[in-house]
Amino acid sequence: MKSKRSQGNSQIKKGRVLSGMRPTGKLHLGHLAGALGNWKMLQQEYECFFMVADWHALMSEYNDPGRVKEYAIDNVRDWLSSGIDPDKATFFIQSEVGRHLDLFMILSCLTPLGWLERNPTYKEQLREIKNRDISTFGFLGYPVLQAADILIYRADTVPVGDDQLPHLELTREIARRFNHIYGTSLLPEPKALLTRTPRLSGIDGRKMSKSFGNTINLSDSEGEIRKKVQMMFTDPERVRLSDPGHPDKCNVHSYYAVFCPEMKAEVDDWCVNARVGCTECKKRLAECLLEDVLGPIQRKRKLFPDSKIEKILSRGTKRAGLEAGKTFKDIKGAMKI
Ligand code: TRP
Repeated sequence: MKSKRSQGNSQIKKGRVLSGMRPTGKLHLGHLAGALGNWKMLQQEYECFFMVADWHALMSEYNDPGRVKEYAIDNVRDWLSSGIDPDKATFFIQSEVGRHLDLFMILSCLTPLGWLERNPTYKEQLREIKNRDISTFGFLGYPVLQAADILIYRADTVPVGDDQLPHLELTREIARRFNHIYGTSLLPEPKALLTRTPRLSGIDGRKMSKSFGNTINLSDSEGEIRKKVQMMFTDPERVRLSDPGHPDKCNVHSYYAVFCPEMKAEVDDWCVNARVGCTECKKRLAECLLEDVLGPIQRKRKLFPDSKIEKILSRGTKRAGLEAGKTFKDIKGAMKI
């Protein structure tokens, strides 16, 4: 059942959304095309809580957490500049709403170890992350904190990428177990809203990731953007200008499709009929990105100094704290503690 709640302006919303991002680096075009684009739509229809997941960042960055705070503010500047509106959605910092950790504690007591050890995301990360030691108690409990993030707001909808689906499933299992143990229906089992993420690779053709250093960041300078676009891999079979290319094998083409869709047909023609070479095609992609996508975001970034962002976050944190407080009171009631 979808809950109908009203928010401030008494508009009926479809339900309540909670989502979060870990502040471990600058945001890039992948975030814009994925999470941010989705949040922008969701804020119109749902009551949204968007969170800076700084505790989750600490779980992997505990050795060198010095930049987490700076990234948190900078990430929120990107949210604001790409059209997420703090009058429509509640922005807050996870570590400033203490009830997340209170509920994390309670859920830790009732989450069987086996559920966490079997989590495919955890096993994959243990295999893949080699440059830091994440075989810690905290990291194993990552999804329990994520469950607390969601359940403390009784959110019914969680937009995530497919890598996060196992965490959502665990959240549902934890909610079910809580309700079963305490004979209540207090915690709704949230559903995942899969973020449609377009196929965009990094500039070297590998998965786009800050750890590969292959991203185009929303805050990159004009010079950096031009340089990075010029470095992008194109169809390897198109060696000379006169060779016809294959747009479906070209990462540059995917960028056009996502960020400058009105040019897609023309770019196909340049490539398939060998009219315009890859260097020129990339030069024009950089122009289009700068003019239509990153330019507007960067002009907006200037409108949000740290002081303004801190104010927005403190307003959001108060709102989030109130909602979390209500759920926590009911949780204690259900548990008779
Ligand atoms: N684990 C999420 C990620 O890395 C971030 C996150 C933390 C989150 N808590 C959440 C996402 C709650 C959705 C809901 O992307």
